[in-house]
Amino acid sequence: MKGLIIVGSAKVGSHTTALSKYLKGHFETHDFEVEIFDLADKPIHQLDVSGALAPLETYKANLQELQTKAREADFFVLGTPNYHGSYSGIIKNALDHLTMDDFKMKPVGLIGNSGGIVSAEPLSHLRLIVRTLLGIAIPTQIATHDSDYKKLDDGTYYLANEEFQLRARLFVDQIVSFAQNSPYEHLK
Ligand SMILES: Cc1cc2nc3c(=O)[nH]c(=O)nc-3n(C[C@H](O)[C@H](O)[C@H](O)COP(=O)(O)O)c2cc1C
Repeated sequence: MKGLIIVGSAKVGSHTTALSKYLKGHFETHDFEVEIFDLADKPIHQLDVSGALAPLETYKANLQELQTKAREADFFVLGTPNYHGSYSGIIKNALDHLTMDDFKMKPVGLIGNSGGIVSAEPLSHLRLIVRTLLGIAIPTQIATHDSDYKKLDDGTYYLANEEFQLRARLFVDQIVSFAQNSPYEHLK
């Protein structure tokens, strides 16, 4: 089983990335192979159906990699910061470059982080998109706040809140269970 965590923060080394790394570690205890595609590290260009843009070669290569990994993935985690009460434009742009063929009947977990008043609304908004892409958004989701994280000596964030560590493990267990027992294989 292969999973893809897509992180849509504008910040390199974001809280959402730290949460993703925590999840990845727990997926690995289940022998699940998971990659984090961090759009702050690997930006892609804006969707351009008219061909008016001349995207950088690096952006095109990043997009190709994202599309290949999405097609191969058995499940997803979508990670977003709270931007103006919703998901980031960065994650939406990435999803606009993907299709139903990438998501159809695959489990999708939703995670997010807020710096102001903690909110799950960005995840509710993402849930609608996942449905439209024919993915199966799992019921458990994770909405953290900046204060749930601490920094290592090198400045890297890590998930420090023990309640969220527990929730993160339950979240992973739920995705693992959905991925291993998919009743929807025949609908793909
Ligand atoms: C464009 C923009 C809009 C934001 N809007 C909100 C908001 O509506 N509510 C909020 O709590 N935080 C808001 N924030 C703060 C982010 O949620 C905060 O920076 C958070 O740490 C982002 O998480 P990250 O480190 O995973 O990117 C906003 C930040 C940006 C850049």
